[in-house]
Amino acid sequence: MRLLILGTGNMAGTHAQAFSAIDGVDVVACADIDEGRARAFADRFDIPEAYGSLDAALAKGGCTAMANTTPDAAHFATTMKAIDAGLHIFCEKPLATNAEDARRMVRAADAAGRITGVNLTYRNVAALQEARRIVAAGRIGAARHFEAAYLQSWLTQPAWGDWATEDVWLWRLSSAHGSLGALGDIGIHIFDFATYAAGSNILDMHSNLTTFPKAPGDRIGEYVLDANDSFTMTARLENGAAGVIHATRFAPGHLNDLSLRLFGTKGGIELTNSGPLGTLRICEGDDLSTATWRDVPLEPVETNYQRFADAVRKGTPMKPDFATAARLQEVIDRAAAAGG
Ligand SMILES: NC(=O)c1ccc[n+]([C@@H]2O[C@H](COP(=O)([O-])OP(=O)(O)OC[C@H]3O[C@@H](n4cnc5c(N)ncnc54)[C@H](O)[C@@H]3O)[C@@H](O)[C@H]2O)c1
Repeated sequence: MRLLILGTGNMAGTHAQAFSAIDGVDVVACADIDEGRARAFADRFDIPEAYGSLDAALAKGGCTAMANTTPDAAHFATTMKAIDAGLHIFCEKPLATNAEDARRMVRAADAAGRITGVNLTYRNVAALQEARRIVAAGRIGAARHFEAAYLQSWLTQPAWGDWATEDVWLWRLSSAHGSLGALGDIGIHIFDFATYAAGSNILDMHSNLTTFPKAPGDRIGEYVLDANDSFTMTARLENGAAGVIHATRFAPGHLNDLSLRLFGTKGGIELTNSGPLGTLRICEGDDLSTATWRDVPLEPVETNYQRFADAVRKGTPMKPDFATAARLQEVIDRAAAAGG
């Protein structure tokens, strides 16, 4: 696979490192609307070609796939163009800024026979993959109740940078810049975390989205700070389980923590993304009467990057793909329409 990385900001570095480490993948080009940034990125990751636009990279040719690490609002137009140009696409989440665009991306890729992947990062966490196997094997019985949380704190401390002065954070706070706030940014991850483990999609929900005052007049320069900072949701899954899902950028003490507690008629599981493999524990069988929890041993799992590279090499579909992300985008749209 000869890979083009489009958008050479924060997340692109993770893609460059992950893809470069995979046998049979050559990261041959990168592009950014800020050509200087693309050139610096190419130097840093030893990438032969750097361009100031997707058009320039496509005009040169020679790539077979693209990793799309542009901001959310740029995913649709750039991905559609790259599909037209014959590339397989691995796109960052959320796939688009609304479900209709996401479905158009699915249809375009399918019609053109392109392989698609979406970087739902927490599929790389061993605890999530094992939790799904445990639930599918029936060990906790019929799912009844769940709690899912995604806690970040970058609006309260500078561990990842200063959100009030850096564009890289400000676009995430502004709907005019294509952000769906915490709902679109981290909601998609926690919806996937909960529904993938449960093996069941969200059937219906009620949601509240909250935007807190963060700057005088709720704006900083060109950025109107109107995107939600937190959401709380009650939801029902297709398998009948009822539960709560919430996420926030205002959780001091938590840099980037996902958790899920899922209870069934025969047992419960609790998992997190903490550490290299995540954590997973189960209470089942004779342990129910003493409420004893046991850690589940975990082995590393393949990453989305590896799965995409394998899929392109073999010419077979991968999961999570554009269709997976489009389904999650429908949840986001429904929550955004209902929330307030
Ligand atoms: N999977 C994850 O866990 C995860 C984590 C962080 C970010 N992300 C996603 O990754 C994407 C990028 O986030 P980031 O933090 O790297 O953003 P960023 O702002 O750091 O980088 C984006 C880069 O894209 C460039 N760009 C913008 N429009 C472009 C266009 N049309 N063509 C080419 N380049 C363009 C910008 O100049 C910038 O350099 C977002 O969709 C975000 O949601 C995913």
